[in-house]
Amino acid sequence: MNFRWLPALLWLSAGLLLLTALVDFSPAWREALIAAAVGCILLALYFTRRLYARFATLREQLASRTTEIESLQLELTRQQRRRLALIDGMPIPLLICDSDAMLRHANRLALEWFGFRHMTGKSLLALTFSYDLYLLMLKAARRESAVSSEITFSFPKERHTEAHIWYLGEADSQKLFAIALIDKSELLRLEQVRRDFVANVSHEFRTPLASIRSLAETIHDDPQMPAETRQRFLNLIIQEADRLTRIADDLLTLTRAESMQPVREVFELAPVIQQAVQEVESEAHRAQVAITAELTPNLRLLANRDQILQVALNLLSNAIRYNKPQGSITVRVYPEGHLAVLEVADTGIGIPSEALPRIFERFYRVDKTRSRAGGGTGLGLAIVKHIVESHGGQVEVESEYRVGSVFRVRLPLYEAAESADTEPS
Ligand SMILES: Nc1ncnc2c1ncn2[C@@H]1O[C@H](COP(=O)(O)OP(=O)(O)O)[C@@H](O)[C@H]1O
Ligand SMILES: [Mg+2]
Repeated sequence: MNFRWLPALLWLSAGLLLLTALVDFSPAWREALIAAAVGCILLALYFTRRLYARFATLREQLASRTTEIESLQLELTRQQRRRLALIDGMPIPLLICDSDAMLRHANRLALEWFGFRHMTGKSLLALTFSYDLYLLMLKAARRESAVSSEITFSFPKERHTEAHIWYLGEADSQKLFAIALIDKSELLRLEQVRRDFVANVSHEFRTPLASIRSLAETIHDDPQMPAETRQRFLNLIIQEADRLTRIADDLLTLTRAESMQPVREVFELAPVIQQAVQEVESEAHRAQVAITAELTPNLRLLANRDQILQVALNLLSNAIRYNKPQGSITVRVYPEGHLAVLEVADTGIGIPSEALPRIFERFYRVDKTRSRAGGGTGLGLAIVKHIVESHGGQVEVESEYRVGSVFRVRLPLYEAAESADTEPS
């Protein structure tokens, strides 16, 4: 039905009524005209009702479409939020750029890396201060494909990374690209540590090997050598061989401590320390160093007994080796909150403050000759630190040059670990 007829019908009925009012028709005509006008009005009314009914359905349809659109919009927003949360939570810095290298989004880690709070709208160059990354980005934009390269950032700190850039597609008629940065600094540092370690190990082995070789050569080349000199040289060879064995043993202990999860048992700390004191007693006696032990009983650990004994032995032998004649050592074991403390204090030569931060490094020695003369390998404290940390503990040192040193090892008590395990969550 065509609703355009509705005004025409109304006009027609109005016209008919006006005609009957103005013109003097005969009663029969007048009645016929009025009837026609009424008919038109009724028809118009009928059309109007249908019109309303149609409107009502349209309105309902419109309302349901609106709800659909609203829920679609809501879902879209949720999806966008999820995508942003995904990007933000990524454990690598992620940036989204347009083809002019202007930033559209940066995840939380990227903001942290470059020390910004917000960065949308900034240029990539202004944010990262890396011209190399900027050029890489322009290259990706030109090719509309994935590119990657190694990039070093110098701001706000030096970082060696692998940058990957790939094309995401278009949004608001702009081409978008994602940039992911993979930090390789730690990997490179570890690689350097490994290289230094291998170099150090070969160096440590080369010195005694060279002495053994030259001593043996001298004996070999001089058959007439007096028996006394020969004996002295042979003793030196034995000493150097022992040194090699000690280095190999310490290296093995260190590697084992690093690579294997130690088998743990519950034991009391004081008897282990007492055993260590007994083991070094003759060495202390030779060096004229007195040892006093104050060991609080009943402190139990969940640890590897042999390794804890090793820690105590290394600290005690250092306290003897770097002591003065008539010097003394005090070994203490005491509780401190949920920790057990092992303290080894000596009245020895002390450690210069500039050397303190380095003494736990492998092969680091303040005085190489003194360490070697006492049978040191430079690995004792590295072993201590490794064992203690793998047991969830900490080691600290206080020292005054020429006065003495205090080494403190803190380890979690078994009772504390136990109650933490059984605590209701
Ligand atoms: N108790 C101490 N007093 C003075 N110096 C110490 C003490 N313990 C360690 N050091 C210094 O720390 C260096 C590293 O110790 P360590 O790793 O045990 O190797 P080393 O085999 O030389 O004893 C030692 O060479 C020494 O210079
Ligand atoms: Mg040592």
